[in-house]
Amino acid sequence: MIVLSGMRPTGKLHIGHLVGVLENWKELQNKYNCYFFIADYHALTDDIKIAFEIKSNTIEVLKDWLSVGIDPKKSVLFVQSKVKQHSEFHIILSMLVSISRLFRVPTYKEKVEELRKKGIETKFHLNIDEERVEHIIRSDVDFIMKTFDIEVDKQKIKDQIYRKLKGDFLELLREFMKTSIELEEIPVNAEISYGFLGYPVLQSSDILIYRANYVPIGQDQLSHLELTRELARKFNNIFGEIFPIPEPLLTEFPKVLGIDGRKMSKSYNNAIYISDDSNTIKEKLRKYYTDPQKIRKNDPGRPDICPIYYLQKIFNKEEREEIYNDCKSGKLGCVDCKLKLFNKMDKFLEPIREKREKIKEDEILNILNEGSQKARNRAEETMNLVLKSMNLEF
Ligand code: TRP
Repeated sequence: MIVLSGMRPTGKLHIGHLVGVLENWKELQNKYNCYFFIADYHALTDDIKIAFEIKSNTIEVLKDWLSVGIDPKKSVLFVQSKVKQHSEFHIILSMLVSISRLFRVPTYKEKVEELRKKGIETKFHLNIDEERVEHIIRSDVDFIMKTFDIEVDKQKIKDQIYRKLKGDFLELLREFMKTSIELEEIPVNAEISYGFLGYPVLQSSDILIYRANYVPIGQDQLSHLELTRELARKFNNIFGEIFPIPEPLLTEFPKVLGIDGRKMSKSYNNAIYISDDSNTIKEKLRKYYTDPQKIRKNDPGRPDICPIYYLQKIFNKEEREEIYNDCKSGKLGCVDCKLKLFNKMDKFLEPIREKREKIKEDEILNILNEGSQKARNRAEETMNLVLKSMNLEF
């Protein structure tokens, strides 16, 4: 059975990738024929100028893969652009899908939504200086009160009025702008490339070109795999049974939360990286968001909503029960709790860090060259079957 998965080269990976993706890949490589690759063409779909960063980002990602135990002796590790068959087969698949089908893919729709929001804000200068708005509201409210001879002696009450007015005003303004522009329709499509629309078609090619059976992915990628399955069925119906219908392998781990309590992500700048050194980890943990109701050390906490407790469950299985109870009862303060976590996490990441430091760039390029050759062998086999079944052999 063949397993295939890929990652865009966005730079060094964080502990969310480690527990959500890489630990899973590590298991899979003992059971299946695994192909893991860097989706460099996919990285270009948002902004082609990312090209200049791809090579160094790829090396960082590979360092992370190797140091956590993704093993080039067990799995085929390669780069998408070094296996031309991905692009070749993508062209054929692009004839099997309608553009209206692609317009309905959720990730495409989200992109449109995001651009529309941005468009509204620039068009209406919605980066309003909120402080100025507040200042004006304050003086206006004071003026009204004076005019009607209203006495509010408590500053706190006045402040409440100002804040409420300001909030309502800004919200109404945004609401109004939004409805007025949706009727007008902003031409967001003009900002989205043909390549971006085709993202899930290229992804389907990545998967089908290896005739993969299983695809480990996150929930957010399911809609792409759904398209892949449709395309495989369509091709098989017209040209004969060449492709197995690939199944997703969903990882159970929910998203790890970052320093600010939002989903851990490079773009939120809230991540702990696999390669972070001890001091950096300690500092990041110190700043980590915890239960906001646990203000003093001995206030009872709510571990179930605390991102630190979530990390304890992963990195500190031995003490998790005790920590849970002591946090709830108020016996354990956040500072001590974080220290316990730090010790375990640092111990876990230390050997990974050490291994990572010894990996040379040349070594990585060799692994990728060899892996890409192996991948090409398999992909070429599929491409031959495809062209033969289409009577396109010359
Ligand atoms: N779209 C995937 C992501 O952003 C990356 C990817 C590209 C992929 N091709 C793939 C994942 C094929 C699995 C299979 O995470």
